[in-house]
Amino acid sequence: MPTLFQITKPFFHALDPELAHTVSLLAMKTGVAPKYPAIDDPILKTTVWGKTFHNPVGLAAGYDKNAEVIGALFNLGFGFVEAGGVTTKPQKGLPKPRIFRDIENEAIINRMNFPNVGMQAFKKNVEKFLEKKPRPKGILGIQIAMTSGQTEPEKDFKMLIRHLAPFADYIVFNVSCPNTPGLRNLEDPEVFKELAGILIEERNKVCKNNPVPLLAKFSPDLIPERQEGLAQACLSVGIDGISVTNTTTQRPDYLPKDFRERKGGLSGKPLNERSTEMIRTFYQLTDGKIPIIGLGGISSGKDAYDKICAGASLVQLYSALVYHGPELVTQICRDLVAYLNEDGHAQVSDAVGSKA
Ligand SMILES: Cc1cc2nc3c(=O)[nH]c(=O)nc-3n(C[C@H](O)[C@H](O)[C@H](O)COP(=O)(O)O)c2cc1C
Repeated sequence: MPTLFQITKPFFHALDPELAHTVSLLAMKTGVAPKYPAIDDPILKTTVWGKTFHNPVGLAAGYDKNAEVIGALFNLGFGFVEAGGVTTKPQKGLPKPRIFRDIENEAIINRMNFPNVGMQAFKKNVEKFLEKKPRPKGILGIQIAMTSGQTEPEKDFKMLIRHLAPFADYIVFNVSCPNTPGLRNLEDPEVFKELAGILIEERNKVCKNNPVPLLAKFSPDLIPERQEGLAQACLSVGIDGISVTNTTTQRPDYLPKDFRERKGGLSGKPLNERSTEMIRTFYQLTDGKIPIIGLGGISSGKDAYDKICAGASLVQLYSALVYHGPELVTQICRDLVAYLNEDGHAQVSDAVGSKA
């Protein structure tokens, strides 16, 4: 029997991509979206930063930018959800159209640049979710982002940490969105080290007894010198985790010309291998000492497992949901169970970095 997604896929793919996104959010908000019981296999359970994830498969930042549908997302079987990127003030993002699909290659290019309702409204939405009883189980990450045009990024990030850290299981600061002019300058290792140090200090001030883990999200386009410099910076400032990778500005030759020429960040299948290699590199450069959230082009259990074996403690996806539907989450979990058993691992953490 075809699944709900298989039936509705032609409808969604006929819509403008951003409208399709809005319709899917509406389905989540109104309870029309499907629910899939999470795959509750102890082999998938994993503890990172002292927090227990019932499975290591999460939703990447950018889908639930305003933290409006966290509960509905957990009901799809995700072990964790990263809401955001949220900025201090509401912003509109770049003009539409700003999301483009290449259905054949299961790819997306976006140049959203963080349209969102801003920190205050975002916080209210998170509070609403946290007050829910019963609340679907899962770990909540919050991604914080710099307002367009901000010349002192630490000001934005500090304010976001102050306001949102008390509500998050972990916080990610984004230094790698290709659509915010100047943002990737923060990936200069010296600049990054100073920024990360300031943000860790702020986090420590805000959460005295129970510091929320602070992560940075990196680009797949880093040159080797930056990879090495950033890994050293992360180790020396004591960052809790890294998220690898964001979207790429590179364009494989096989993508159709009209799609390839769109400005923005490329995600989905064409990013998969590049991001897996980046995970492996960061795992090696940090001696496996810093937990990695691995993402970029995951569209199967095999892709997720490869990233775990390359060094990811947790994985995330976004673009593949557009092509495979929400049932992909539980499918990936089921396949992960099979791969872990096949390789004789008792739990996910045993596989992390096993082929780094
Ligand atoms: C429409 C869209 C919006 C996104 N917005 C964000 C964002 O706000 N913050 C962020 O760090 N990444 C954002 N991303 C990137 C994803 O979080 C992820 O890093 C990237 O898409 C690679 O994963 P995927 O191939 O599974 O999509 C966005 C991606 C897409 C497609």
